[in-house]
Amino acid sequence: MATRTAPEDFSALVQSRRSLRDFLPTPVPPEVLDAILADANAAPSWSNTQPYRVAMASGAVRDRLQSALTSRFDQGMAAQRGGWFGKLKLLATPGAMPDGDYKVNLEYPEDLQPQRRATGHALYELLHIGRKDQAAREAQMRRNFEFFGAPTALFIFVHSGLKEFSALDAGIFAQTLMLSAHARCAKPSRSHHTTSCCVASLWATRQTTPSTPSTPAGPRHKAGRFPPARSGQSG
Ligand SMILES: Cc1cc2nc3c(=O)[nH]c(=O)nc-3n(C[C@H](O)[C@H](O)[C@H](O)COP(=O)(O)O)c2cc1C
Repeated sequence: MATRTAPEDFSALVQSRRSLRDFLPTPVPPEVLDAILADANAAPSWSNTQPYRVAMASGAVRDRLQSALTSRFDQGMAAQRGGWFGKLKLLATPGAMPDGDYKVNLEYPEDLQPQRRATGHALYELLHIGRKDQAAREAQMRRNFEFFGAPTALFIFVHSGLKEFSALDAGIFAQTLMLSAHARCAKPSRSHHTTSCCVASLWATRQTTPSTPSTPAGPRHKAGRFPPARSGQSG
Protein backbone atom coordinates (compact mmCIF):
# COMPACT_ATOMS: atom_id res chain seq x y z
CA MET A 1 0.00 0.00 0.00
CA ALA A 2 1.68 3.17 -1.18
CA THR A 3 0.67 6.29 0.70
CA ARG A 4 2.19 9.71 0.53
CA THR A 5 3.03 11.68 3.63
CA ALA A 6 4.05 15.25 3.08
CA PRO A 7 7.76 15.49 3.93
CA GLU A 8 7.09 18.52 6.13
CA ASP A 9 4.49 16.52 8.12
CA PHE A 10 6.95 13.72 8.63
CA SER A 11 9.72 16.12 9.63
CA ALA A 12 7.37 17.89 12.05
CA LEU A 13 6.46 14.61 13.70
CA VAL A 14 10.01 13.37 14.03
CA GLN A 15 11.44 16.67 15.18
CA SER A 16 8.78 17.35 17.76
CA ARG A 17 9.28 14.00 19.53
CA ARG A 18 10.84 14.35 22.95
CA SER A 19 11.61 12.05 25.84
CA LEU A 20 8.90 12.83 28.35
CA ARG A 21 9.51 12.17 32.00
CA ASP A 22 6.23 12.98 33.67
CA PHE A 23 2.89 11.46 32.80
CA LEU A 24 -0.72 11.82 33.80
CA PRO A 25 -2.21 8.67 35.31
CA THR A 26 -5.12 8.75 32.84
CA PRO A 27 -5.39 5.26 31.29
CA VAL A 28 -4.58 5.02 27.60
CA PRO A 29 -7.62 3.63 25.73
CA PRO A 30 -7.04 0.04 24.54
CA GLU A 31 -7.77 1.04 20.94
CA VAL A 32 -4.96 3.60 21.09
CA LEU A 33 -2.56 0.98 22.45
CA ASP A 34 -3.66 -1.41 19.70
CA ALA A 35 -3.09 1.23 17.02
CA ILE A 36 0.39 2.02 18.35
CA LEU A 37 1.32 -1.65 18.40
CA ALA A 38 -0.08 -2.15 14.90
CA ASP A 39 2.11 0.70 13.63
CA ALA A 40 5.16 -0.68 15.40
CA ASN A 41 4.45 -4.04 13.86
CA ALA A 42 5.04 -2.49 10.43
CA ALA A 43 8.69 -1.83 11.33
CA PRO A 44 11.25 -3.58 9.15
CA SER A 45 13.32 -6.39 10.60
CA TRP A 46 15.99 -8.71 9.35
CA SER A 47 14.31 -11.20 6.98
CA ASN A 48 11.02 -10.05 8.47
CA THR A 49 11.68 -12.27 11.48
CA GLN A 50 10.54 -9.66 14.03
CA PRO A 51 12.89 -11.11 16.62
CA TYR A 52 11.38 -9.35 19.60
CA ARG A 53 8.42 -9.69 21.93
CA VAL A 54 6.50 -6.99 23.72
CA ALA A 55 4.95 -7.21 27.15
CA MET A 56 2.51 -4.49 28.05
CA ALA A 57 1.62 -3.76 31.64
CA SER A 58 -1.23 -1.57 32.85
CA GLY A 59 -3.28 -1.48 36.05
CA ALA A 60 -2.42 -3.89 38.84
CA VAL A 61 0.34 -5.65 36.87
CA ARG A 62 2.03 -2.35 36.12
CA ASP A 63 1.75 -1.38 39.78
CA ARG A 64 3.29 -4.67 40.95
CA LEU A 65 6.19 -4.24 38.54
CA GLN A 66 6.73 -0.71 39.79
CA SER A 67 6.81 -1.95 43.39
CA ALA A 68 9.28 -4.69 42.54
CA LEU A 69 11.55 -2.39 40.53
CA THR A 70 11.53 0.49 43.01
CA SER A 71 12.16 -1.85 45.92
CA ARG A 72 15.25 -3.20 44.13
CA PHE A 73 16.32 0.32 43.32
CA ASP A 74 15.97 1.27 47.00
CA GLN A 75 17.99 -1.77 48.05
CA GLY A 76 20.70 -0.82 45.58
CA MET A 77 20.87 2.74 46.81
CA ALA A 78 20.95 1.65 50.44
CA ALA A 79 23.77 -0.71 49.58
CA GLN A 80 25.75 2.08 47.95
CA ARG A 81 25.31 4.21 51.02
CA GLY A 82 26.45 1.26 53.15
CA GLY A 83 29.88 1.16 51.51
CA TRP A 84 31.58 -2.16 50.82
CA PHE A 85 29.61 -3.96 53.55
CA GLY A 86 26.33 -2.83 52.03
CA LYS A 87 27.43 -3.98 48.58
CA LEU A 88 28.47 -7.39 49.92
CA LYS A 89 25.10 -7.72 51.63
CA LEU A 90 23.36 -6.87 48.39
CA LEU A 91 25.37 -9.44 46.45
CA ALA A 92 24.43 -12.07 49.02
CA THR A 93 20.70 -11.25 48.90
CA PRO A 94 18.89 -13.59 46.49
CA GLY A 95 17.10 -11.69 43.73
CA ALA A 96 18.47 -8.32 44.78
CA MET A 97 20.77 -7.87 41.79
CA PRO A 98 19.61 -7.62 38.16
CA ASP A 99 19.81 -11.06 36.57
CA GLY A 100 19.59 -10.10 32.90
CA ASP A 101 21.76 -11.80 30.34
CA TYR A 102 23.31 -8.52 29.29
CA LYS A 103 25.49 -6.32 31.40
CA VAL A 104 23.44 -3.16 31.77
CA ASN A 105 25.91 -0.95 33.59
CA LEU A 106 28.35 0.13 30.97
CA GLU A 107 31.15 2.64 31.27
CA TYR A 108 30.62 5.23 28.55
CA PRO A 109 33.58 5.59 26.20
CA GLU A 110 35.61 8.73 26.94
CA ASP A 111 34.64 10.53 23.73
CA LEU A 112 30.94 10.25 24.59
CA GLN A 113 31.32 11.51 28.15
CA PRO A 114 30.92 15.24 27.39
CA GLN A 115 27.56 14.68 25.70
CA ARG A 116 26.40 12.33 28.45
CA ARG A 117 27.33 14.86 31.15
CA ALA A 118 25.70 17.72 29.24
CA THR A 119 22.45 15.72 29.00
CA GLY A 120 22.54 14.92 32.71
CA HIS A 121 23.28 18.52 33.68
CA ALA A 122 20.51 19.85 31.46
CA LEU A 123 18.01 17.42 32.96
CA TYR A 124 18.87 18.23 36.57
CA GLU A 125 18.97 21.93 35.84
CA LEU A 126 15.51 21.78 34.33
CA LEU A 127 14.29 20.02 37.44
CA HIS A 128 16.10 22.49 39.71
CA ILE A 129 18.15 19.71 41.26
CA GLY A 130 21.52 20.87 42.50
CA ARG A 131 24.77 18.99 41.76
CA LYS A 132 25.22 17.97 45.37
CA ASP A 133 21.61 17.21 46.17
CA GLN A 134 22.07 13.46 46.24
CA ALA A 135 18.60 12.74 47.67
CA ALA A 136 16.84 14.67 44.92
CA ARG A 137 19.01 13.02 42.28
CA GLU A 138 18.15 9.60 43.66
CA ALA A 139 14.46 10.47 43.75
CA GLN A 140 14.62 11.51 40.10
CA MET A 141 16.47 8.33 39.16
CA ARG A 142 13.80 6.37 41.01
CA ARG A 143 11.20 7.91 38.70
CA ASN A 144 12.61 5.72 35.91
CA PHE A 145 11.44 2.68 37.84
CA GLU A 146 8.04 4.29 38.46
CA PHE A 147 7.71 4.57 34.68
CA PHE A 148 7.58 8.34 35.27
CA GLY A 149 3.98 7.89 36.35
CA ALA A 150 2.87 6.48 32.97
CA PRO A 151 -0.18 4.24 33.31
CA THR A 152 1.17 1.71 30.81
CA ALA A 153 4.67 0.30 30.56
CA LEU A 154 6.00 -1.68 27.65
CA PHE A 155 8.89 -4.09 27.86
CA ILE A 156 10.65 -5.13 24.69
CA PHE A 157 12.44 -8.46 24.76
CA VAL A 158 15.01 -9.41 22.18
CA HIS A 159 15.82 -12.84 20.80
CA SER A 160 18.78 -14.47 22.47
CA GLY A 161 19.88 -16.20 19.26
CA LEU A 162 20.53 -13.02 17.27
CA LYS A 163 22.63 -11.11 19.78
CA GLU A 164 23.27 -7.48 18.72
CA PHE A 165 21.31 -7.89 15.50
CA SER A 166 18.16 -8.50 17.48
CA ALA A 167 18.75 -5.28 19.41
CA LEU A 168 19.03 -3.42 16.11
CA ASP A 169 15.68 -4.79 14.97
CA ALA A 170 14.14 -4.03 18.36
CA GLY A 171 15.49 -0.46 18.23
CA ILE A 172 13.79 0.18 14.90
CA PHE A 173 10.62 -1.34 16.31
CA ALA A 174 10.85 0.84 19.43
CA GLN A 175 11.35 4.05 17.48
CA THR A 176 8.40 3.26 15.23
CA LEU A 177 6.34 2.62 18.34
CA MET A 178 7.42 5.87 19.98
CA LEU A 179 6.69 7.92 16.88
CA SER A 180 3.26 6.35 16.63
CA ALA A 181 2.60 7.16 20.30
CA HIS A 182 3.84 10.67 19.71
CA ALA A 183 1.55 11.11 16.69
CA ARG A 184 -1.37 10.26 18.96
CA CYS A 185 -0.24 12.44 21.81
CA ALA A 186 -2.51 15.34 22.68
CA LYS A 187 -0.88 18.72 22.98
CA PRO A 188 1.18 19.04 26.15
CA SER A 189 -0.36 21.32 28.72
CA ARG A 190 1.48 24.36 30.06
CA SER A 191 3.39 22.30 32.60
CA HIS A 192 5.63 19.44 31.55
CA HIS A 193 2.75 17.03 32.04
CA THR A 194 1.35 15.58 28.91
CA THR A 195 -1.15 12.97 27.91
CA SER A 196 -0.13 9.49 28.74
CA CYS A 197 0.47 8.12 25.29
CA CYS A 198 4.13 8.90 24.78
CA VAL A 199 6.96 6.57 25.60
CA ALA A 200 9.67 8.02 27.78
CA SER A 201 12.28 5.44 28.23
CA LEU A 202 13.13 1.85 27.58
CA TRP A 203 14.75 -0.87 29.51
CA ALA A 204 15.21 -3.65 26.99
CA THR A 205 17.63 -5.72 28.92
CA ARG A 206 16.57 -9.27 29.49
CA GLN A 207 17.10 -11.68 26.66
CA THR A 208 14.50 -14.31 26.17
CA THR A 209 13.95 -17.18 23.83
CA PRO A 210 10.31 -17.27 22.83
CA SER A 211 8.54 -20.59 23.31
CA THR A 212 7.65 -20.59 19.62
CA PRO A 213 10.81 -19.17 18.07
CA SER A 214 9.85 -19.48 14.42
CA THR A 215 6.57 -17.58 14.50
CA PRO A 216 6.79 -13.93 15.36
CA ALA A 217 3.03 -13.79 15.69
CA GLY A 218 2.88 -16.60 18.29
CA PRO A 219 2.60 -15.14 21.78
CA ARG A 220 1.47 -11.79 20.45
CA HIS A 221 -1.49 -13.38 18.73
CA LYS A 222 -2.46 -15.14 21.89
CA ALA A 223 -2.48 -11.88 23.72
CA GLY A 224 -4.85 -10.56 21.08
CA ARG A 225 -2.80 -7.46 20.64
CA PHE A 226 -0.71 -7.95 17.56
CA PRO A 227 -1.74 -8.31 13.97
CA PRO A 228 0.03 -11.12 12.08
CA ALA A 229 3.59 -10.61 10.98
CA ARG A 230 3.93 -8.73 7.73
CA SER A 231 4.52 -10.88 4.72
CA GLY A 232 6.14 -10.45 1.34
CA GLN A 233 9.47 -9.12 2.57
CA SER A 234 12.90 -10.52 2.20
CA GLY A 235 16.25 -9.77 3.74
C1 LIG B 1 18.11 3.14 24.58
C2 LIG B 1 17.71 4.37 25.35
C3 LIG B 1 17.70 4.34 26.72
C4 LIG B 1 17.33 5.47 27.45
N1 LIG B 1 17.29 5.39 28.81
C5 LIG B 1 16.84 6.44 29.51
C6 LIG B 1 16.68 6.32 30.91
O1 LIG B 1 16.95 5.28 31.50
N2 LIG B 1 16.21 7.40 31.59
C7 LIG B 1 15.88 8.57 30.96
O2 LIG B 1 15.43 9.49 31.63
N3 LIG B 1 16.04 8.70 29.62
C8 LIG B 1 16.49 7.66 28.89
N4 LIG B 1 16.61 7.77 27.52
C9 LIG B 1 16.26 9.04 26.84
C10 LIG B 1 17.50 9.80 26.34
O3 LIG B 1 18.13 10.45 27.42
C11 LIG B 1 17.02 10.81 25.29
O4 LIG B 1 16.52 10.12 24.18
C12 LIG B 1 18.13 11.73 24.83
O5 LIG B 1 18.58 12.53 25.88
C13 LIG B 1 17.67 12.65 23.68
O6 LIG B 1 16.55 13.42 24.10
P1 LIG B 1 15.15 13.34 23.34
O7 LIG B 1 14.68 11.91 23.36
O8 LIG B 1 14.24 14.25 24.13
O9 LIG B 1 15.37 13.80 21.95
C14 LIG B 1 16.98 6.67 26.79
C15 LIG B 1 17.00 6.69 25.39
C16 LIG B 1 17.34 5.55 24.68
C17 LIG B 1 17.33 5.60 23.16
